[in-house]
Amino acid sequence: MGIKCLILEERFKNLQNKLSNYLQKLQDNANVFVLVSNEYDNDNCITYSFLDSINLCIKNGLQYINTIIVPVEKSCKFDNVKYILWFSKDKNNLIFDKDSIREKSIWKDVEWGKREKNYNPKGKDPGNVWIPTNDDGNGHITEHILMTQQQVINRIQKMSNATQVETIVDLNPIKNTIKISNDNVHNIETDVRTKYEVIFDSSENMKPIKDNSVSLVVTSPPYWDLKNYFKSGQIGQESYDKYLERMKNVWKECSRILKDDGSIWININIRVKDNYPILIPYDYVNQFKNLGLFLKQIFIWHKSSGIPTGAKNIVDRHEYVLVFTKDKHTTITVGRYNDYKNPKINETNIWNINRKAGSVGKKYIHPAIYPTELTNRIINDMTQPGDMVCDPFLGSGTTLISCLKLKRSFVGFEYNEGFKDLIISRINSDTSNNIKDVKFV
Ligand SMILES: C[S@@+](CC[C@H](N)C(=O)[O-])C[C@H]1O[C@@H](n2cnc3c(N)ncnc32)[C@H](O)[C@@H]1O
Repeated sequence: MGIKCLILEERFKNLQNKLSNYLQKLQDNANVFVLVSNEYDNDNCITYSFLDSINLCIKNGLQYINTIIVPVEKSCKFDNVKYILWFSKDKNNLIFDKDSIREKSIWKDVEWGKREKNYNPKGKDPGNVWIPTNDDGNGHITEHILMTQQQVINRIQKMSNATQVETIVDLNPIKNTIKISNDNVHNIETDVRTKYEVIFDSSENMKPIKDNSVSLVVTSPPYWDLKNYFKSGQIGQESYDKYLERMKNVWKECSRILKDDGSIWININIRVKDNYPILIPYDYVNQFKNLGLFLKQIFIWHKSSGIPTGAKNIVDRHEYVLVFTKDKHTTITVGRYNDYKNPKINETNIWNINRKAGSVGKKYIHPAIYPTELTNRIINDMTQPGDMVCDPFLGSGTTLISCLKLKRSFVGFEYNEGFKDLIISRINSDTSNNIKDVKFV
């Protein structure tokens, strides 16, 4: 009898060998789970990330289903995230026993966001961040639970409907020795001079910005072939190769304007199109490495609201934030946020930030807004008041709002000038600044 559920953990360099041993022995309907931690070098740069392992497994003929995030007991100073890469030998034969791993509903008869129609008495659709909760029965979470390795394996086996005999568990976890402190950064509030500028043009050319002048780039770029931002010539509507070529030009400009000790933070996710994964974050990492930058960290933005992915998958509840630096010695020092009712989970680089549904875009529409809480954290932790921050894809103005609130200077690009009214309306409603403080070009 072949293997129905394969659970592997291996360093990237040995993964190919290990996979080869098992591939021939898989049943046609097998599930494969590859457990991965990001691997770091002595300068605390990521040498191999979970994205490399996804790419390798796909190259070996496995079909990508999803990436599950699990916080783990502190094994190094930072990171402490296990990525469970879920593949199937043949998606058409995918086994997924959703009911066996449903998550507890914490509200009575409604789902998150008070959605009655989504309520299932058997429990919530399972998501791709595994942090079970306890609650007080009145909709309040009292504890976030750190799963043990055995609990994770049991859950994987249950969802694969596999018996002990049909499962292979072959784990060789890596030990990271990364030494990064994550003490809070103390900002010195002085009388700082700030200036704010929004340029309605393509960020493929940032000519008005001087070399080495920006301390931080924070952005969420347009995905390839996903959303329409209502203006022809926007990035995201061309072929994937052309898309990457245009993005490379933006990253090249970001790298040019970045100070030597600065960092670039990019919010992005893997995009699944027609059942096939487009590894946008993997391609960005390679582009940055080719430009001579270093991948220093990957943060997980965990959202309670999720994107449904159909009967044969778990709900998407996270996105990534990739962090690059120009100098490999630049440290990424962030504050400790108490997002979870479990101090051990607060020590990981998983941030639980929920979007305030409906707070923006009622009157003016923008289809892809990220939360100010996310940009606030990054800007507050990585810069001092007065420092220059840039967002090459400003959209509705979120990064600018954070800069106005935190007294950081800002320059941003947005291709569609039609979003100007939305940006102005957000400045007026979310900040105490006068609109004259911001120069629109
Ligand atoms: C994901 S959205 C950014 C949303 C933003 N983070 C927010 O919170 O509102 C991407 C934005 O990139 C803009 N965009 C597309 N092509 C561009 C280009 N070549 N230069 C600058 N902006 C562009 C789109 O119009 C869209 O507003």
